Amino acid sequence: MAHKRIAPIGVMKQGGTAWRPLVPVEGFFRAWNVLFLGSMGTMTDQLHGLTKDIDSLREEALSRLESLQSVDDSVAWEREFLGPKGKMTTLLRGLGGLPPEARPAAGRAAQSLRQELENTFRPVRERLAKGALLQRLSADAVDVTLPGRQPLIGAAHPVSTMIDELVEIFGLLGFRAIFGPEVETGRYNFDLLNIPADHPARDVWDTIIVDDPDVELVLRTHTSPMQARAMERSEPPIRVIVPGKAFRFEAQDASHEWQFSQIEGLAVDTHITMTDLKGVLQEMARQLFGPERRIRFRCDFFPFVEPGVEFAVDCAICNGTGCRVCKHSGWLEMGGAGMVHPNVLRAVGHDPDIFTGFAFGLGIERLVMMKYGVDDLRIFAATDIRLLRKLSFVAF
Ligand code: DAH
Repeated sequence: MAHKRIAPIGVMKQGGTAWRPLVPVEGFFRAWNVLFLGSMGTMTDQLHGLTKDIDSLREEALSRLESLQSVDDSVAWEREFLGPKGKMTTLLRGLGGLPPEARPAAGRAAQSLRQELENTFRPVRERLAKGALLQRLSADAVDVTLPGRQPLIGAAHPVSTMIDELVEIFGLLGFRAIFGPEVETGRYNFDLLNIPADHPARDVWDTIIVDDPDVELVLRTHTSPMQARAMERSEPPIRVIVPGKAFRFEAQDASHEWQFSQIEGLAVDTHITMTDLKGVLQEMARQLFGPERRIRFRCDFFPFVEPGVEFAVDCAICNGTGCRVCKHSGWLEMGGAGMVHPNVLRAVGHDPDIFTGFAFGLGIERLVMMKYGVDDLRIFAATDIRLLRKLSFVAF
């Protein structure tokens, strides 16, 4: 009987396909039989209890292990049975209550259960972890064949694009692009351009004045002051264009803005004539609006040129026959031009008997409006992204 009761202490360990007792049951029994004959009854009870504890723990742990469904379950199982405060630890601690002589064999039996539980648990945990990973991978799957999201890279403003185009066109005609200050002195903005001190343009109602007690400072009202700066700085031959911003104290409407862009042109040499001016402007119009375009000059007055003209290009939309865009005139006005006034040449140190030159100036927004049929000048400085979407031909 005793033999039978003790037998389960020899915990079975899986080895290959067969189960065999880890601790030789007979040996264990013989050991305590020999040593503890005096306290036979108590020892038997204690060992009996321990054997039952080990058995039931084994049964409980293994059956619970079979029912684990998730990684969380497996963590809980491990904590419950193998953790530092788990049932296995409690059992091992309980061995301390056995008589010293019985402890080694009982300890081996308990350790062997621990080993068995660990070995059986490991593959279960791995299987559950792998299952969870596969599930997560299929749920969070990234479809690498989807097209990427286009980053917002922005686009050049149509005025900038037009400036680039003009720089290229005039570059091919031998003009160099230069840039000048947007805050100018009265001397360059007016005096050197033959604009007298009492000219209405100098009035605060036309010009944005920079408050400076020592010098007349204005936001340049046109790009023409760079004519004077370029001529002062260099000896002819001179061929420059000056794209940039200009400012006027102006009530805003569809064709007026207080801030706008112009491009100035200047050529000074010994034999420059009005024909050169017309040829250059005609070529610009053809490059921008097509090879059939023609240029029209009509008399006009600007203090810094003599003779002065306003120039127009025949309407590309109706081919000059008259339409809504050209207001049925067949012509689109582009800007002012003329032969550099002798007073201007003299003021910047060049002899008008030796040198002649032509100059022109036109609004860049107006060119964009003509080219794309825009009918309100105010959209260019309105920072409305739809302008770029439409006129910069960029999808964003
Ligand atoms: N600066 C003039 C304006 O803003 C335009 C102009 C007219 C420029 C005639 C020129 C020119 O160079 O020759 O109205």
